[in-house]
Amino acid sequence: MKRILLLSALAFVIATTSAQTGFWGLIQLPYASEALEPVISRRTIELHHGKHLAGYVETLNLLVKDTEYEGKSLEHIVRHSSGVIFNNAGQVLNHILYFQQFSPQGGGVPTGRLARAIEEQWGTFDDFREEFEKRGAALFGSGWVWLAQTADGTLIILQEPGGSNPVASGCRPILGFDVWEHAYYLDYENRRLEHLRSLWDIIDWQVVGERYARP
Ligand SMILES: [Fe+2]
Repeated sequence: MKRILLLSALAFVIATTSAQTGFWGLIQLPYASEALEPVISRRTIELHHGKHLAGYVETLNLLVKDTEYEGKSLEHIVRHSSGVIFNNAGQVLNHILYFQQFSPQGGGVPTGRLARAIEEQWGTFDDFREEFEKRGAALFGSGWVWLAQTADGTLIILQEPGGSNPVASGCRPILGFDVWEHAYYLDYENRRLEHLRSLWDIIDWQVVGERYARP
């Protein structure tokens, strides 16, 4: 059951791998680099996607060449590797999910099954949002805060250090905020919490809701 959940959650990631070479490519953003302003500036998007994510992709391709991980899915590598391969595979997976969950027409609140599940777990969406922001702001150093789904379907908030992703602990990633300084420092300097609070205005809840699996 857990394996089926993970495979279905991340099936779209497979599309970013070249079937011919088995190497990873850089995803294209589903919006223009300035489209998320003023929440995230054009310059931050250009650097974050074009330099940081591109760097993780390039490094991962070099690291997995001629190893047992060559040609394997990102989630497989994250679940089975360690060290620099784990961190780079995790960062590629993290950033694909991150960039694809935003839209210039985003914002508002979740709907449908995900909204009901959040309310069951946290009482109200505002209570969930406050807890999520708090966990992201409190994470020491670089990492991620995730809304994730356990193998039995329960929603949880996870703090993931460095390049880790919820799939490392058998969970399904639903919504992830990047708290590495490269995600916000140009726009918000050291005001991480202010940045996290602003991200709700660009969340594409349709994309995020589709990641949620029926328990
Ligand atoms: Fe990042």
